[in-house]
Amino acid sequence: MKIENIKKEFPIFNNKIENNDLVYLDSANSSQKPLVVVDRIYDFYTKEFSNIGRSVHYLAVAATNLYENTRTAVQKYINAKDKNEIVFTKGATEAINLVASTFGQKYLKEGDEIIITELEHHSNYVPWHYLRKNKGIKINFAEIDEHGDISLESVEKQITSKTKMIALTHLSNVTGAILPIKEITELAHSKGIPVLVDGCQSAPHMKMDMQDLNCDFYAISCHKMYGPTGLGILYAKKKWLDDLPPYQGGGGMINEVKKNDISYGELPNKFEAGTMATAQVIAFNESINFLNKIGIDNLINHENDLLNYGEEVLRKNNSVKLIGNPKKKGAVLSFTIDGIHPHDIATILDEDGVAIRAGHHCCQILHDKLGLTASARASLGVYNTRDDLDKLNESINNCKKIFNK
Ligand SMILES: Cc1ncc(COP(=O)(O)O)c(C=O)c1O
Repeated sequence: MKIENIKKEFPIFNNKIENNDLVYLDSANSSQKPLVVVDRIYDFYTKEFSNIGRSVHYLAVAATNLYENTRTAVQKYINAKDKNEIVFTKGATEAINLVASTFGQKYLKEGDEIIITELEHHSNYVPWHYLRKNKGIKINFAEIDEHGDISLESVEKQITSKTKMIALTHLSNVTGAILPIKEITELAHSKGIPVLVDGCQSAPHMKMDMQDLNCDFYAISCHKMYGPTGLGILYAKKKWLDDLPPYQGGGGMINEVKKNDISYGELPNKFEAGTMATAQVIAFNESINFLNKIGIDNLINHENDLLNYGEEVLRKNNSVKLIGNPKKKGAVLSFTIDGIHPHDIATILDEDGVAIRAGHHCCQILHDKLGLTASARASLGVYNTRDDLDKLNESINNCKKIFNK
């Protein structure tokens, strides 16, 4: 599949957005969906629908097999050792909550410490904050440097004898910093500390290899990976999934239920209580096929070219201030323009069909640290082109004219 023609695979680009061609630069928020994924949902509901894992009739068995096929496809895509290390959740947020809640319940007590970073999305802060409130744990923040980057040393500085978990993003959704996860994991493991990685922004853009990274937990958001909404993935080493208590109770996750006791099912059922997002899981197999057909190396080359081009264009545009200049960067161009509120920038760009995001991007700690209340963010997907970035720049220039900047 050729990247030059990839826009054709996404039906959304056939539409005009208020008479404009769509320049979609909001993929860090959520990616657009290729037709194969949309079709797969339609086909499943119109020809193959059944709930999974419960009945023995033809449709139920076939749907269960399709659902499990996606688990195997994900296992291969992220190079996990075992297919039962893949747990489907309703999003990356739920995946992180699952770990914070079950790990917290079993292993954390008052005075214990966990480390996160100043780059974290609220999804990787709020669940730990609950434990601070409910159990009296302490949260230490690894600090960013002047480039909006997190180094191994800044994490190391926060480690104490009470550190029980390090939870951090792989790729910042604001500065684009790609963190040295493998090195951080090596360090953490040498001190007996498990590592959770928020992989929401990395999984759509980087080669995934869980065995090489060797982290304990990895959270993925499927709707940012050309997949359906309402679906996320928790990768966890099997030893943890065997060891941790279930997160939610209900049908599907039990073994035996008696009036005086209940035993829980084996993996992967133990963490998938109730009716799951069956259609989304089955359709996500098509997202993975789609990514495999493009080839991760082609995707990385394409997006690196766009990122470098976008940075070059925006740097030349005086008054645009790019946020973050990390050593390794992915897919995100956050910026401010002196004297124009990011919401005004996004609103005016929208009038030209350029869709970006403005706000704190669920990273208030980071914005506070940068002395900002908000920023504008253009983020990339496989369907973007250099032309899109030229249009972004033109539209920024329109915006500057309107505000006399
Ligand atoms: C870095 C990061 N973490 C977590 C999330 C939450 O992911 P989900 O929407 O799958 O719950 C997002 C989504 O914006 C994100 O960008």
